[in-house]
Amino acid sequence: MNTQYSILGSGPVGRTLAGLFARAGIDVQIANSRGPESLAAITAELGRHVVPATLEHALEADIMFLAVGFMQVESVAMKLPDWTGKIVVDVTNALQPAEVGETKLRGLLSSEINAGFMPGAKLVKAFNHLPVHRLGTNPPASGQRQVVFVSSNDADASTTIAALVARLGFASVELGRLDQGGAALHVPDGKQGGLLFQNLVKLD
Ligand SMILES: NC(=O)c1ccc[n+]([C@@H]2O[C@H](COP(=O)([O-])OP(=O)(O)OC[C@H]3O[C@@H](n4cnc5c(N)ncnc54)[C@H](OP(=O)(O)O)[C@@H]3O)[C@@H](O)[C@H]2O)c1
Repeated sequence: MNTQYSILGSGPVGRTLAGLFARAGIDVQIANSRGPESLAAITAELGRHVVPATLEHALEADIMFLAVGFMQVESVAMKLPDWTGKIVVDVTNALQPAEVGETKLRGLLSSEINAGFMPGAKLVKAFNHLPVHRLGTNPPASGQRQVVFVSSNDADASTTIAALVARLGFASVELGRLDQGGAALHVPDGKQGGLLFQNLVKLD
């Protein structure tokens, strides 16, 4: 059976991710809070591989990209009673104290908080480290690909997403556990991780 992919969120990040799937010729559903009709312009622009969906339908995918605001993750997570076996690619950032609002990180990484809302899911941090207008837009150069970092506490899920990263045209760099190599993709203790906003390439 083919793996089903979805993108939860259709802001600049969700739209950009959808464009990457369209470019690679991989089918993906996209959903937001307003319903499939509101996605007509995106799907008209990106073509047949990008399929508008309700949130409920998009939550049935095997691999989901979480492209909503950090403060909206809990409300999305509540829509699915059982996350067991799902791979969730966490693209969210909790960069500004204002974004974090009343939610205290309590010394945890934002991805650890997000994972807590989705018990049973295999959370993978990836695609969050660049300003979205930089993602997939490096000038073409032979023999090099833009790096996308991948971090997860689940080694198999990390491998799965690293392979998808390659299919989408990037070079993956696996960093290991969220609280180890993956901390560099977060803002631990209010200090921006060292890999955030680093636009790197890997030579083939
Ligand atoms: N902007 C960047 O350069 C960048 C780079 C890396 C990572 N990030 C992170 O990526 C995430 C998305 O960024 P963005 O700029 O695309 O955000 P955004 O413009 O605020 O878009 C958020 C999307 O989430 C949807 N949404 C919110 N609550 C929902 C719910 N309960 N159910 C379904 N959909 C819901 C919204 O739906 P509606 O459209 O219906 O309102 C919207 O499409 C953020 O966490 C951000 O920190 C951003």
